[in-house]
Amino acid sequence: MNILVTGGAGYIGSHTVKELLKKGFTTYVVDNLSRGHSKAVPSDILFPIDLSDKDKLYTFFKEKNIDTVIHFAAFAYIGESVDNPLIYYQNNLANTINLLEIMIKCNVNKLIFSSSCSTYGEIIGNHLITESTLQKPINPYARTKYFCEQIILDISRSYGLDYSIFRYFNAAGADDDGCTLGEDHNPEPHLIPSVLNAARKGTPVTIFGRDYPTPDGTCIRDYIHVSDIARAHVLALTSKNASRKIYNLGTGKGHSVLSIIKKCQEITDLKINILEGKRRNGDPAILIANPELVARELGWKPVSSSLDTIIRTAWEWMKRNPER
Ligand SMILES: NC(=O)c1ccc[n+]([C@@H]2O[C@H](COP(=O)([O-])OP(=O)(O)OC[C@H]3O[C@@H](n4cnc5c(N)ncnc54)[C@H](O)[C@@H]3O)[C@@H](O)[C@H]2O)c1
Repeated sequence: MNILVTGGAGYIGSHTVKELLKKGFTTYVVDNLSRGHSKAVPSDILFPIDLSDKDKLYTFFKEKNIDTVIHFAAFAYIGESVDNPLIYYQNNLANTINLLEIMIKCNVNKLIFSSSCSTYGEIIGNHLITESTLQKPINPYARTKYFCEQIILDISRSYGLDYSIFRYFNAAGADDDGCTLGEDHNPEPHLIPSVLNAARKGTPVTIFGRDYPTPDGTCIRDYIHVSDIARAHVLALTSKNASRKIYNLGTGKGHSVLSIIKKCQEITDLKINILEGKRRNGDPAILIANPELVARELGWKPVSSSLDTIIRTAWEWMKRNPER
């Protein structure tokens, strides 16, 4: 296989590239570095192409004889998508259409696509979310992911595209094989790195809502270690079962915001001050995956997704990269 990883210099992409290279796959990264980091991937496999540039993309596909695509490249900040929806429709939707056009033109038939649990929208109650739970995206970011899924299904019906779609729950942690990679977003939208950052800087963390119908009143989410996500992509490349399938990628267990803060305090041995904020619009109380399908069909199991390993690896990476 000659694999193209779009967005491979980003958080989840770079961990997946590391896993692919470890397993000996011929791997190329296309990333415009708008939100990624060149140091996160070997320089000889990084091509700074923007997915809006169809001519460059076509030439690249031909030169490298690409036959498989793992498509991470996107903007992924929900708040930003509400403030500026068009850049999300442009980058996540129009550029995915560009990519699909080039794939069809070059007879590339295998795509692994990064979708999101946010496509389910506001889940009422506390049942585990299965792949057949109704998708009701409630913000522009989630809608771009939902529309991309629909387009991929249409392309598959019309052109026979073989796809695997993963709906990730909350990616977290840092490279479980040496902590050489980690999460480096600016601004940082995710809870765990934000709390760890607050711990080391001595700044407070805001909890948005303490009145949810959960045991401690804070929201509960399903955190999945980024290296476990990376390994799922390798399984999707190698398993016939993954053909034309959609999988949730989560652990089936939830952790509250308060329990994350407590665990970060325990691991860093630093005091974290809390501010209490109001609920944010569109933040459901509980989002937890039912990961049975991916376990049964791909034999995938989260091995590094205990809260302890997630926070320890994230903290270790942060200590090694004090400038981030
Ligand atoms: N992080 C999560 O918890 C999470 C959850 C669900 C889904 N996802 C999805 O997973 C994927 C990866 O997420 P991430 O957290 O690693 O994001 P990220 O921002 O760290 O990585 C995205 C990468 O894509 C690149 N990119 C963006 N637009 C591009 C373009 N037009 N051309 C070329 N490169 C471009 C960026 O430079 C960046 O390196 C995204 O599609 C995201 O929507 C992430």
